[in-house]
Amino acid sequence: MTTHLKIGRLDADELAKKLTTPLYVYDARRVEENYLTINSAIFYEPKQIHYAIMCNNRLQILKVLLNLGADIQVNSVKEYRLVKSIGSSNAKISVTTTNISTDDLSFYAENQAQINFDSIEEISCYGQLIKQSSTVINHTIGIRISVPMEITDQSATNQPHPTKARVGINSKQFDLVKEAAKKYNLKINGIHGYIASNLIDLVPFIKLGSYLVECAKKFPDLEYINFGTGFGIDFDWLAYGQMVTPLMRSISTFFGRPIHLKIEPGRSLVGDAGILLTRVTNIKDMGNWTQVGVDAGFGVFARPYIYGWQKGQGGYHPVVVANKIDQPPKGLYTICGNSTLQGDFIAEDRLLPEIEIGDLIAILNAGAYGAVMLSGFPGMRRAGEVLIYDDTIEVISETER
Ligand SMILES: Cc1ncc(COP(=O)(O)O)c(C=O)c1O
Repeated sequence: MTTHLKIGRLDADELAKKLTTPLYVYDARRVEENYLTINSAIFYEPKQIHYAIMCNNRLQILKVLLNLGADIQVNSVKEYRLVKSIGSSNAKISVTTTNISTDDLSFYAENQAQINFDSIEEISCYGQLIKQSSTVINHTIGIRISVPMEITDQSATNQPHPTKARVGINSKQFDLVKEAAKKYNLKINGIHGYIASNLIDLVPFIKLGSYLVECAKKFPDLEYINFGTGFGIDFDWLAYGQMVTPLMRSISTFFGRPIHLKIEPGRSLVGDAGILLTRVTNIKDMGNWTQVGVDAGFGVFARPYIYGWQKGQGGYHPVVVANKIDQPPKGLYTICGNSTLQGDFIAEDRLLPEIEIGDLIAILNAGAYGAVMLSGFPGMRRAGEVLIYDDTIEVISETER
């Protein structure tokens, strides 16, 4: 009898047989653990941990985090509505996005949402809207600050373009931002800055922290600094807490009042809580490599295709053979999706136990930017999603048959 992968207290293979594959499985306890780890490691108060729901917006997951006291970051009116629909107040929601339309700005204004603005033009548009409105009472705004690459030494300062960083307002424009805010009687009460996703190295966060704290001093009405995100799976939260606390204390001392610390983690909260289960449908001898075909591909799990599946690339995910978890490695296998796309690779040359048709592959760290990026292209069945609480299964959606 071989050992099977367990998710919560459930056997992954039995789960996959019962609910069919491809299937995203989320472990609620892991989400809880991740939140509690971050919350206790950052011992500075006041603070708010805004879960970035763009990485996994399933209500069941949201509720796990909200029950623990998490706050939320939204990227759109649609996400804002979703979070409001389950009872979150504006104080718990950070609207952080770019290029907001006038209609959306008007919606946020009428709902008194707290926005981190990405441009002077947006601020002016918002200012005009609230000037014409008799119902908008929130006159506080946050601003997104463009973090220069030189500051963090990170080519990954969320700047996929080689020369153009498109997010945030340049520090050279701070006077203009203040003028625009003053013109419309708006109070800049927060600043936001962030670096790229899935980083483990603390150094860029230290540099970002110092940079934002210096920027903060230029805004006399400041109430919060939002350090955004970039936190990878297995991030050293204890070290982060040790680093960010003195920074926040120094800025609070500077202003003579407690300044709120905010962060917007997504992946680090739910990434490793999700596993994509997919069945082996074919094994193809390619001469000098072995292709293992599975019943999920680009349309179900786009990350390897988009970000690259090789070690060190953004779409690299550990994989295990879920029904042979205790078996010794037998050879190198390349897991490929079930589409017609040449590039539909999921994992390349992985050392795994002997794989046979019908085995169950578990793609790990699939809880963030997995199911939300599911397109079904080209013509694929959609994966189901379930949340496991120890030994109970909450079905989020069923696998399309
Ligand atoms: C403004 C903002 N906040 C939060 C996040 C969440 O990022 P992560 O999942 O890397 O924590 C993102 C991701 O791009 C973002 O753009």
